[in-house]
Amino acid sequence: MTIVLYNDQFVSREECTVDIEDRGYQFGDGVYEVIRIYSGKMFTGKEHITRLFESAEKIRLELPFTKEELTENLYKLVEKNNLHTGTIYLQVTRGASARQHQFPLEGKPVFTAYTKEVARPEAQMNEGVTAIIAEDVRWLRCDIKSLNLLGNLLAKQEAYSQGSFEAILHREGTVTEGSSSNAFIIKNNKLFTHPATNLILNGITRRELIRLCPGIGLEVKEEAFTLDDLQAADEVFIASTTAEIMPIVQIDGKAVGNAAPGEWTQKLQSVFKASIQEQCGELVKVER
Ligand code: PDD
Repeated sequence: MTIVLYNDQFVSREECTVDIEDRGYQFGDGVYEVIRIYSGKMFTGKEHITRLFESAEKIRLELPFTKEELTENLYKLVEKNNLHTGTIYLQVTRGASARQHQFPLEGKPVFTAYTKEVARPEAQMNEGVTAIIAEDVRWLRCDIKSLNLLGNLLAKQEAYSQGSFEAILHREGTVTEGSSSNAFIIKNNKLFTHPATNLILNGITRRELIRLCPGIGLEVKEEAFTLDDLQAADEVFIASTTAEIMPIVQIDGKAVGNAAPGEWTQKLQSVFKASIQEQCGELVKVER
């Protein structure tokens, strides 16, 4: 039986119901996180939980638990569901109240979390995937991991309808990020990625990668790059909790470099995997 965390209670999925006037359901008034579990342990869990608290603060939502209480409950959730390799999805909304745009004076946040088995996308990481370019039509607070994802969803759907894995977004020719990932290019042995401003989500995978670069002698430039830079890049990849470090070998039908994962991308994949193993222990291949 699937066990979910509903506020501070562990209940069956069927027992966890949403009020039709929950502000998350009606307005997307809430924030969320996706945390990777490898070998039953959270990878960069502390960073994700810290970002949840930061996102909540940015939308003036006070969380009814401490980081320590949340961490403890998430570990219980992983255990109860016997999760080895997968993800935890967690979200908190401003709760249920009579529908009105302004925040309710009273009302309690509603927290839900559940686990899912998700294998590492090994074949795609080895071979690379394709991407399209799409306009970034989202709001100007992309630094908040908000439940409002329509701009992201429309771009991702466009990518999928064209048989691609991801849409790389741009604002007037400046690349921001992917629809559900951060975007990176390698040019002349330097890594470029959009700075962590209001225009992107500062990915936890992105931060981990930037931390690992000095160890492999790769210079990092947190500088915006253009669509022309993207087309002329030696290597392109995206990064996220679920996709890890995913090489992009073709964009809008045109090959990136020699249409195969580049050398720096592969080096980064290997140090990233080592970092996972350092935190979570030996990785066992899980088919699913
Ligand atoms: N998405 N940018 C956007 C718009 C994202 O949605 C995500 C992650 C990232 C990468 O962040 P991180 O490395 O912390 O996962 C960047 C998650 C996985 C999702 O919505 O499913």
